[in-house]
Amino acid sequence: ATANIGVVGLAAMGSNLARNLAHHGNTVALFNRHYERTEKLMDEHGDEGNFVPTESIEQFVAALKKPRTAIIMVKAGEPTDATINALVDAMEPGDIIVDGGNSYFKDTIRREKAIRARGLHYVGCGVSGGEEGALNGPSLMPGGTEESWKTLGPILKSIAAVAEGEPCVTHIGENGAGHFVKMVHNGIEYSDMQLIAESYDLMRRGLGMSTDQIGDVFDEWNKGELNSYLIEITSTVLHQKDAKTGKPLLDVIVDRAGMKGTGTWTVETALELGTSVTGIGEAVFARALSSQPQLRAGAQKAGLTGPDGSLSISDADRAAFIEDIRHALYASKIVAYAQGFNEISDGAKEYGWDIDMAAVARIWRGGCIIRAQFLNVVSDAFQSGEADVSLLFAPYFKKAVEQAQDSWRRVVARAAECGIPVPVFSSSLAYYDGLRSGRLPAALIQGQRDLFGAHTYGRVDAPEGAAFHTLWAEPGRPEIEE
Ligand code: 6PG
Repeated sequence: ATANIGVVGLAAMGSNLARNLAHHGNTVALFNRHYERTEKLMDEHGDEGNFVPTESIEQFVAALKKPRTAIIMVKAGEPTDATINALVDAMEPGDIIVDGGNSYFKDTIRREKAIRARGLHYVGCGVSGGEEGALNGPSLMPGGTEESWKTLGPILKSIAAVAEGEPCVTHIGENGAGHFVKMVHNGIEYSDMQLIAESYDLMRRGLGMSTDQIGDVFDEWNKGELNSYLIEITSTVLHQKDAKTGKPLLDVIVDRAGMKGTGTWTVETALELGTSVTGIGEAVFARALSSQPQLRAGAQKAGLTGPDGSLSISDADRAAFIEDIRHALYASKIVAYAQGFNEISDGAKEYGWDIDMAAVARIWRGGCIIRAQFLNVVSDAFQSGEADVSLLFAPYFKKAVEQAQDSWRRVVARAAECGIPVPVFSSSLAYYDGLRSGRLPAALIQGQRDLFGAHTYGRVDAPEGAAFHTLWAEPGRPEIEE
């Protein structure tokens, strides 16, 4: 046996990860269900490093040095289970199976438990950065045991993206912690993308700007505090022309956003945990609404009326409004991250993980889809303890939101007036205002609940936890009992 690592599943992500591993001095065993893929990889890239192509799981396992370490890069769900079972049967106690797909963290917890019972290590590892990242340096979010990290850590560090001189990988926590954090990463990705889309809509429909003009605005934004991969690629998408029609490519792309499930999991899990992730939730629902053709065509046919989306803004005020949008985007982005990190911390409490938030922010600075300049300050805020309860309480972000908020409110108000939906801008603002309200109308809800269902309420002048019930007055029947 010569290989110190193996990759099972050689579709785009798997083969790029295998090549990345080989580029960094690892000897990589290869296995794919259909051998043609393995052959293709060897034909095209076999000379890039040390590969050991194999034709069966048994051969693959035999090619690995102990402790045998295999990364699975197959589709989440049933194909992953089938591959794991085959590997477990062929491997021995002490060996390590890594699932690098976007698996649901509860599946990872279940699998880890079953595989631990057989003496093997099972590591659910979030891999972000798409195909390009897999090849040139992804951000990696491994869970699993400390012991497996000892073997896996150096290998993963050798292939991870590097940000500010540090590899974008850290041991997130036991069992499903890595996939949990990757799931929330994807939720934040959804809200980042929706915020950019809302900004675009305001400029395109609201201000009547061309795709090229808007692309230039994003280029400009990318030079400041919004500097990030998603802002950068937005400009590329906006400037792209369709080869067939010569129109902006964006105008010939069907306006229905797809999704494969990780955003939905983020929201479902937040609902279970009782965490408010309104930004991510609205981003998922916005994609869902975009993908309901019947409903949308029905609305066109029914002729639902309202303002047409154009903003009446004078040429003189246009630049200032674009600046307002930039501020609104930044403030809403801070809220989305605050909410995402709250979900990670609530998940950590629920599942017993010790997750270092500052380290999570640090490994998201490079390689992953949400990589952004501002994650430097996010990691500092967690490192100093200032963001322990909420990122919004850290002085740097508190001030950033304070400076942005007049703009943010103007954008939400103008969008509502002109009829452009900005669900993440507006729900993030509502979250911020909800958070800072000394007293919420929830008291009224408690009153209603007590009236119709005797659900009881707490009193402001009684100890926490004490429950009161009112005998709600019927006509002619006075007063209250507690
Ligand atoms: C990444 C991405 C990647 C992928 C997701 C999201 O971190 O590299 O998040 O995992 O883009 O599958 O895809 P959907 O938008 O299809 O849900």
